[in-house]
Amino acid sequence: MTTENKTTPTIMIIFGGSGDLTCRKLIPALYNLYLDKWLNEKFSIICTGLDEMTNEDFIKHLQDGVDKFSRSGVSKPQEWAAFSKYIQYQKGDFTQAPFYDTIKNHIAEFEKNAGEDSDKIFYMAVNPQFFETIASNIGNAGLNNDSKKVRLVIEKPFGTNLESAKALNAALIKSFSECQLYRIDHYLGKETVQNILAFRFANALFEPIWNRNYIDHVQITVAESIGVEDRGGYYEHSGALRDMIQNHLMQLVCLIAMEPPVSFNADEVRNRKVDVLNSIRKIKKEEVHIYAVRGQYGEGWVEGEKVKGYRSEKAVAADSTTETFAALKLFVDNWRWTDVPFYIRSGKRMQESISVITIDFKPVPHQSFPEEAMENWQPNKLVLNIQPDMGIRLRFQAKRPGLQMHLAPVDMLFDYSNTYQSGSSPEGYETLLLDVMEGDATLFMRADQVEAAWEVVMPVLSNWQANPSVNFPNYAAGTNGPETAEALIAKDGNNWIIMPFEKK
Ligand code: BG6
Repeated sequence: MTTENKTTPTIMIIFGGSGDLTCRKLIPALYNLYLDKWLNEKFSIICTGLDEMTNEDFIKHLQDGVDKFSRSGVSKPQEWAAFSKYIQYQKGDFTQAPFYDTIKNHIAEFEKNAGEDSDKIFYMAVNPQFFETIASNIGNAGLNNDSKKVRLVIEKPFGTNLESAKALNAALIKSFSECQLYRIDHYLGKETVQNILAFRFANALFEPIWNRNYIDHVQITVAESIGVEDRGGYYEHSGALRDMIQNHLMQLVCLIAMEPPVSFNADEVRNRKVDVLNSIRKIKKEEVHIYAVRGQYGEGWVEGEKVKGYRSEKAVAADSTTETFAALKLFVDNWRWTDVPFYIRSGKRMQESISVITIDFKPVPHQSFPEEAMENWQPNKLVLNIQPDMGIRLRFQAKRPGLQMHLAPVDMLFDYSNTYQSGSSPEGYETLLLDVMEGDATLFMRADQVEAAWEVVMPVLSNWQANPSVNFPNYAAGTNGPETAEALIAKDGNNWIIMPFEKK
């Protein structure tokens, strides 16, 4: 949500600096911020890790990551050399208190060279079991004491259920105040996700019809064609409900359903989102089967290639009951949304990778046209494409050219890549890292938001844990999930729609 091109001198300490996230996401994002001149010249990145490595080898490893994963492609030697001067590798064990003296020394040296006090960002890119330890070690070392200048970034997953999320919030708040905590959900940094706010609240046109009087239902699909890849160990204890629905999809529901904020002040926006989460009807234990569907992929074909089933993936149990697909039907019980179903689904190894939100409008109140004109008639749809292609499509009826009156749907398209031909858009992590540097928490999750999101999924999670599925795998890789997910929506007379974004 940053609107100005400046940051103060900043030192970022990344715990888990030699890990995958740093190499795939964090450093490529920081590098692109550097290329786009968002970083202050007085900047330092300290990557901490347990591995024995020279600074030179470490920087080479990060460069390989940038070359492979950065949206700006392979790095140019001169630019990389200039950027990499900001980075230092620091071997050490973050569970041990004395290690924080080393960090203190880095900060002191940086501030001495900068000639001024700096912002200090601690980024926990580590296994969640260490969040509490790191936070309390930072606190015990007295590195947390400036609430304006010190921030702590917490990666997902934030807890594994409501209870553990509450416990983690309680632990973090012992060493930090809430305004210093940046719980990241990278979906909120995506261009099109942010554009939902612009679309809804910077246009007078849509808001008057954005309610139960005009909207029949909402669909949100976040489909991935990839499987669990090498994350089986993590995913076995997570599953689609916790990995995607509790965080990313719940945030999308909030953006679609929230009331207009009075301002874009971080707390105002987050208050409006919490209102949505608190309004979501809690699914009763005995009704979980009516409102929730789970699935697990078996072997199948994806993009012409035969792929294995989930149970044959690395680090996955041969009889695993972890769900790789989840779909829910939710209701937001407030004046705006009563009785409007929100169907949400997410899965791995689906037919294609696509994230899309569809708003299905109600039919016209009265059909004036003769029946033969209406053969191809469809209610209006608004499609917000999040990825891979970014854009917005509005579907409405038009008269087909000819002497007879025949109506057929046509589309009005807003295509990001055609409209803004200024190269690739910033990635979620770029937006979010810059926001952390600027101290703007609007796009980050507040404690009550995380807990409210857990409350929504808890009845389903508990039910599924208590009753492991007996019919997994129940969808073939390369398809759109189990048949029961079709039934979830079909019983209301609707069907899942994916309208890939056709480029002109
Ligand atoms: C992560 C999940 O949060 O989001 C992954 O842990 C998932 O399982 C990823 O693949 C999807 O993010 P994106 O940006 O690729 O849609």
